[in-house]
Amino acid sequence: MSSAFDVIVVGGGVIGNAAAYHLAKAKARVLVLEREAPGGSATRAAAGMLAAQEEAGDDEAFLDFCLKSRDLFKTLVPEVEALAGFGTEWAVTGLWRAAADEAEAASLREKAHRQSERGLPARWLDAAEARAALPSIEAPHGAFLAPEDGLINPVLWSRALAEAARRLGARYAEFTPALSFLRDGRRVTGVRADRSAHAAGHVLLSAGAWTPGLLDGLDLRLPLEPVKGQLMVLSGAPGLLPAPVYAGDGYVVPRRDGRVLVGATAERVGFDTRPTPAAQARLAAWAARWSPALLKLPVVGLQAGLRPASADGKPLLGPAPGWDGVSLACGHHRNGILLSALSGRIAAEGALEGRWQEARGYAPDRFVAAGATA
Ligand code: GLY
Repeated sequence: MSSAFDVIVVGGGVIGNAAAYHLAKAKARVLVLEREAPGGSATRAAAGMLAAQEEAGDDEAFLDFCLKSRDLFKTLVPEVEALAGFGTEWAVTGLWRAAADEAEAASLREKAHRQSERGLPARWLDAAEARAALPSIEAPHGAFLAPEDGLINPVLWSRALAEAARRLGARYAEFTPALSFLRDGRRVTGVRADRSAHAAGHVLLSAGAWTPGLLDGLDLRLPLEPVKGQLMVLSGAPGLLPAPVYAGDGYVVPRRDGRVLVGATAERVGFDTRPTPAAQARLAAWAARWSPALLKLPVVGLQAGLRPASADGKPLLGPAPGWDGVSLACGHHRNGILLSALSGRIAAEGALEGRWQEARGYAPDRFVAAGATA
C-alpha cells in the first residue's frame, strides 16, 4: 500500500474538483485521480451558463436545488479565485430566452409571472424592449429575462477549483485512470491506479460519463450515458451581446475576450468526441435564424464534450447502492457547471460525514428501487 487518504476522488472534472476543494478546505487528506488532464470532458461541452431559471424546467424541487447552487457562487467564487490566483469570468449578467412564436411568448409570460409570484426576479419584455436590450438577436415575439442568472468561464472555473484544492493540500494524479477497487467484503477500501494501490476512508466517484465503467467493478449498473454536446466558437464580437441568450433549441454565450459560443448539440453517439461538420451546419443554421450578425464572424473552433446524463436527467448524489465506503457525485447532464457549487459541497460532506440529506431527491438508489438499473 503506497499511501492512505481520507477520500479519493475519481475524476478531475468540475464536480470532482469542487468536491476536492471542499474536502481540502475541511482538512481532509484527498487524492484526485484523473484519467487525462483535469478540466473534464463534460466541461468541453459547457458554455458556462448559470441558468437556474431556464434549465430547471417545471421541476420545482430541482429549481430550488439549482437556485441554491447559483447563489453559492457569490461567496465561493471570491474565495476560490483568491486561492487560485486567477479569475474565472463569473458575472451575474442576467439570462434571456427569446420566444419563437406567440404560443411560446404566452408560456414565457406565464413563467415570468409564476417565478415572480414565488419571489424570483423574472421579467417578460415585449418585442420593442427585447430589441432595445438585445439588438443582435431576432426576438419579434418578446423575451423572458432572469436577471440573477449569469455565466462563468467553465474551463477557468474547473481549473481554479483544482488549483485552490491543491493550495489547500489536495494531491492530484493526472493521466492516472482508476483501474479497480480495493475491497474488504462489501466495503470499498481504496483504489488501484497505475502501479499504486491507495487506501482511503472513502472513495467518491465523479468520473462523469465514465462512472458506469467504474461501477462495473462493483457489479453495479446505473442508467447513465454520455450525451455529446458540440459548440461553435466565433471570435471578434466584443460587446455584441450583454448576456447569454437561449432561443429555440440553442443558445449563444458571450465571452469576455470577444469570443462567442453557439451551442449546443445533444447527440447520443457513445464516447466519440470528434467535432462534425453536421454539427457546425446545425449551429450555423441556428445563428442564421436567431442572430444573423454572427454569420459574419470567423469560426475559431468547434468543441465537443460529453454530458453525463442519467435516465431522469438529474444528478446521482449519494452512497453507491449495496456498498460501504463509496459514493457517487455524477450525472449532472446539462447542469454540471451550475451545480458544481452545491454538489461539490454536498459530496464532500457526504464522503466525510455521510451527510447526503440536502440531495435526498438525487440518491443513486432511486434507480435500484425503481428496478431501473441498466
Ligand atoms: N447547459 C447547456 C447544455 O448542456 O448545452
